[in-house]
Amino acid sequence: MLEIERLNVFRSNLQILWDLNLRIDKGEIVALLGPNGAGKTTFVESIFGFIPKVEGTINFLEENIRGLPPHAIFRKGLALVPEKREIFPKMTVLENLRLGKGDRSGWEEDLEDIHSLFPILKEREIQLAGTLSGGEQQMLAIGRALMSNPKILVLDEPSTGLSPLLIGQVFRSLERLGREGMTILLLEQNIRNALDLCQRGYVMENGRIILEGKTKELYHNEHVQRAYLGI
Ligand SMILES: Nc1ncnc2c1ncn2[C@@H]1O[C@H](COP(=O)(O)OP(=O)(O)O)[C@@H](O)[C@H]1O
Ligand SMILES: [Mg+2]
Repeated sequence: MLEIERLNVFRSNLQILWDLNLRIDKGEIVALLGPNGAGKTTFVESIFGFIPKVEGTINFLEENIRGLPPHAIFRKGLALVPEKREIFPKMTVLENLRLGKGDRSGWEEDLEDIHSLFPILKEREIQLAGTLSGGEQQMLAIGRALMSNPKILVLDEPSTGLSPLLIGQVFRSLERLGREGMTILLLEQNIRNALDLCQRGYVMENGRIILEGKTKELYHNEHVQRAYLGI
């Protein structure tokens, strides 16, 4: 579904990402793991057209989308839950969700699906988004991304700033989405939780992919155990 080859990305004339290759097939949940500063956000921003200097191939459904503006990429069916969530605090929960639908009609059914995934968003429907807790805001950010009825959902560190309890809740909802057929690319530094959710993963350090494989292989990898799992 998404196939990235030899991706090189530059910010302020500095090279941040080096020769990245990554693939995600339909229905897969794939993790891109790495510590703070590894380049995860730069990676998503380059996929979604926010960074001008990008080299390499970004194929989505066998079409090269590199160089397209963000709105065109969203319209093709890629949805992003950004690192900073970027919900609109002075708008209600429902208004925030509605923004995610873009110009699509027939979104009422999607709204029902999102309410069934996150019942709290229905309970808080008319509340201003800025008054939600951190966990609720993360659910709203995911719900808004789903309102575009995407083909692939990309999440940039959804666990950041959340308590272990809420991380569990958010990851269980992602698991359910995966079971229902959603294709998910998850960027995380919370490696233990991400490995529990995903089937396959990549590990990124200093702007390069240093490891890739099935979740089980990564779990047993000596570097992953030492650097990330404290085993
Ligand atoms: N706007 C920018 N200009 C120059 N360098 C940046 C910019 N944003 C991030 N960087 C650098 O890019 C590297 C990767 O950052 P980032 O993609 O945010 O990593 P992560 O999301 O994995 O924490 C870091 O070394 C960071 O300092
Ligand atoms: Mg980041």
